Amino acid sequence: NSEFLIAPSILSADFARLGEDVARVLDAGADVVHFDVMDNHYVPNLTFGPMICEALRNYGITAPIDVHLMIKPVDSLIPEFAKAGADIITFHPEASEHIDRSLGLIKEHGCEAGLVLNPATPLHYLDYVMDKVDQILLMSVNPGFGGQSFIPQTLDKLRQVRERIDASGRKIRLEVDGGIKVDNIAEVAAAGADMFVAGSAIFNQPDYRTVIDAMRSELAK
Ligand code: DX5
Ligand code: ZN
Repeated sequence: NSEFLIAPSILSADFARLGEDVARVLDAGADVVHFDVMDNHYVPNLTFGPMICEALRNYGITAPIDVHLMIKPVDSLIPEFAKAGADIITFHPEASEHIDRSLGLIKEHGCEAGLVLNPATPLHYLDYVMDKVDQILLMSVNPGFGGQSFIPQTLDKLRQVRERIDASGRKIRLEVDGGIKVDNIAEVAAAGADMFVAGSAIFNQPDYRTVIDAMRSELAK
């Protein structure tokens, strides 16, 4: 699969030098910027909003920005993120009163749309929206913090979602987020994921290219 995407989570980047650090990880071979938005309400942590996304665009970051909304309510920030330069916007369905409307709002604003399922969120949320999602994000940790351990039950869930995607006949990316490292990325890919978020595994190392190259060589196995 040559379409594997590596998406560093900038939650683990140096916030005091964010533009520089994001440029550095993209130079090191990353494909997509994963942008974790936390509101201290849906999740017990607080990060950044559309202004920071726009600041990255103004700094000259041109790579796709994958906005992972961990916020409740969801809809009010969708137009803001689209204006700020997001390419993909995903949200947690249980945080939206009207899932179909939220997906439609993302598309209306010209972005790709996706749902995010927590480790214990059932797959039935996907039942009536497979024709509307461009991406499905499975959380392999409980959302809120970087640096947590991969929850192994995610592998079986990934296989189930991969079956649903293949049955849909649509090209839907299957993204996984939480605890992804060089030593588990191959197993996660074998279970069906094709887009890999990694925060601490990349940003906590001095040389980002070494980590990203090691991940790609695991994926090539
Ligand atoms: C967690 C976030 C993740 C997180 C991943 O709520 O959605 O994107 O930053 O971090 P690592 O790769 O360190 O588990
Ligand atoms: Zn995330």
